[in-house]
Amino acid sequence: MARIAVTGATGFVGGTVAAVLADKGHDVTCLVRSDPGEDFPWAWELTDTGSVADLERVLDGADAVAHLAILNDFALMYADRRAGWDAYVGMTDRVIDAANVVGAQVALISSDWVFDGVGHLYAEDFPPNPVNYYGVLKVASELAVLNRADRGFVARVGGVQGLHQTKKHGPRTQDVGFGFFVLSLVDSLSRGDRYTVWEDPHINNVATPIISAEIGALLGRGIDRGVDGILHFAGGTAVTRRELAMATCEVFDLDPGMVDFGPVPDEARLPAPVPFDTSMDGAETMSRLGTVAHSVEAQLRALREELETGRPAPLS
Ligand SMILES: NC(=O)c1ccc[n+]([C@@H]2O[C@H](COP(=O)([O-])OP(=O)(O)OC[C@H]3O[C@@H](n4cnc5c(N)ncnc54)[C@H](OP(=O)(O)O)[C@@H]3O)[C@@H](O)[C@H]2O)c1
Repeated sequence: MARIAVTGATGFVGGTVAAVLADKGHDVTCLVRSDPGEDFPWAWELTDTGSVADLERVLDGADAVAHLAILNDFALMYADRRAGWDAYVGMTDRVIDAANVVGAQVALISSDWVFDGVGHLYAEDFPPNPVNYYGVLKVASELAVLNRADRGFVARVGGVQGLHQTKKHGPRTQDVGFGFFVLSLVDSLSRGDRYTVWEDPHINNVATPIISAEIGALLGRGIDRGVDGILHFAGGTAVTRRELAMATCEVFDLDPGMVDFGPVPDEARLPAPVPFDTSMDGAETMSRLGTVAHSVEAQLRALREELETGRPAPLS
């Protein structure tokens, strides 16, 4: 089993990635920028991600670093482009430099928003063409790993569904991407409230949803196999928001008659264009990792299990 450092483990995806890697027997250390509190479930090291020397110190002895930390604030990254660049590309460069010194693999989590959204089921080798600064920053971070890491890979994810491991009452609201969509719908309908699925040509309307637990499992496989290049951690079904809502009602035994469809509230729009169809083809990736892309129904059943047990339920 590998010794794996994880950045961004206090976040939505990183917490589940840390949980799944630890459950699968890896030795996990989370690299955090402030004390995560006594309830934080995994080993952690205070880390200055602005310093290559400090990253070398905390990565010493690691076989791999799963890099998920980002500045997740659209308004701020537009308001201060230099800070945005540093928080994505600069931080990734520093992680790569330190990993190269200690001989660790770099596993970068990237995004389906590297694509322009006018295609369908993008393949791993299809050239990216981001429509907003977040996508630009993710592409630049990808290229840093592909061109500069001695060992490592890029794993694009999108339509991510799951529970936040350490902020149990964290935000669960619909946004112009797919994150939190399923659980926000489940929350509303379970409370007896109606739910309006946004439909709009200017939001992300098609994706290949995957649960964050499966991202953790696939990441572990990628590290174990020492893969390189670009991977698509995509679910096996491309769905619209409407189709995902209906599949959710089916799997969670909720009343589809409580779901409405309507426009996006103005206050939810981003100050930038959003790609429409970011569905990805992950067949080549799954074959390299010795597994399959699981259907949206299978992903939702695993998410229901996670909700009911409190434990991530990866499929691979
Ligand atoms: N969520 C999605 O639907 C989705 C979709 C596609 C791709 N992704 C990718 O998945 C990854 C994780 O995203 P997420 O949604 O889990 O984000 P998130 O919940 O906002 O978590 C971001 C994490 O980054 C950490 N961080 C931020 N700046 C840092 C710094 N300077 N040094 C150290 N740590 C820092 C945060 O730590 P603090 O707790 O200290 O702030 C937090 O742990 C990202 O690479 C993102 O691009 C996510």
